[in-house]
Amino acid sequence: MLNPIVRSQGMPIGLHELNEEHKLIRRGYAELDEAIFHGVSSSIIIDISSKLTELMLQHCLHEEEFLAEMAAVCGEESRIELRRNRVRLLALKEELRRGDIYAALHLRAVCRQWLNEHLLVEDIELSPALSQGGTRRAI
Ligand SMILES: [Fe+2]
Repeated sequence: MLNPIVRSQGMPIGLHELNEEHKLIRRGYAELDEAIFHGVSSSIIIDISSKLTELMLQHCLHEEEFLAEMAAVCGEESRIELRRNRVRLLALKEELRRGDIYAALHLRAVCRQWLNEHLLVEDIELSPALSQGGTRRAI
């Protein structure tokens, strides 16, 4: 199931944790996509969507934290994009809380685009860190 990664207090976020979050988000997207495809009840779809939204929000925060550490190699655009995504996700979270099934459909589209674009941007921007021993996702 879609449970966020728990880390020890004060433990810095690293590439490994971010990659694990990517895997969870990809799994959540697949679960949401399948639920919509099979036409399960709207309450289940909203529940899956709410959990996926929380995972994505948590990931945005962790990425911001990580990018702050990597300020020398990461552009300001990435931080601005993360904040923009967070605002969009918070709006979706509120719509889901109100039971709006269209928010789930919107989230699916947002997540699909995010999976494609976000991971590509990360590959480009973090390549210096990755080439120094970091490993990339196995998603
Ligand atoms: Fe990421």
